[in-house]
Amino acid sequence: MGFVLPPLPYAKNALEPHVSGLTVDVHHERHQRHYVEKLNELVSGTRDADRPLEDLIRQARGEIFENAAQAWNHTCYWNSLTPAALRELPLPLVEPIRQAFRDLAGLRRTLAATANGVFGSGYVWLVADRERRFHVIATPNADNPQRDGLTPLLTIDVWEHAYYLDRRNRRDEYVAAVVDHLLNWDFAAANLAAQEATQR
Ligand code: FE2
Repeated sequence: MGFVLPPLPYAKNALEPHVSGLTVDVHHERHQRHYVEKLNELVSGTRDADRPLEDLIRQARGEIFENAAQAWNHTCYWNSLTPAALRELPLPLVEPIRQAFRDLAGLRRTLAATANGVFGSGYVWLVADRERRFHVIATPNADNPQRDGLTPLLTIDVWEHAYYLDRRNRRDEYVAAVVDHLLNWDFAAANLAAQEATQR
């Protein structure tokens, strides 16, 4: 059966007007699907076909790593966005965000500046380290913070295919729309809770 493309967690046009249904459709149905299908092609008939995606991200190299990470990163990205963004942070996020960024506005500014500073293709991530301290980091191409022992809490895709149809080369407009309107704080809180559970 191999790896499968997970369905979107909302309707394709649910993120409008910030990200269009066309962009979401092409991004999910063409780009992410391509990574999943390519990964299946690469691991077909090998032991890697039965390993969890996270294992391939942490241990594989070359094309298998790149396609496994792209399959995983995109699912993380879709879940990092929501048409029903909370205005208030879930309680477990409040103190770590205060310590690292002073407040939610500080986190938003750091995310936007880091995302706009990525040279070429990549992702910006809110991550927790092993001491549950929060950081914003950028990774190039398909790279994933799990390789460095960090827990992704949420991510923003800044490959051009994430915004070019809507905004041509104006990445800053796309980043501002996502950071100000679409981030899924419940998802970040759930990822933090899962990290805590595995550390116990
Ligand atoms: Fe993407």
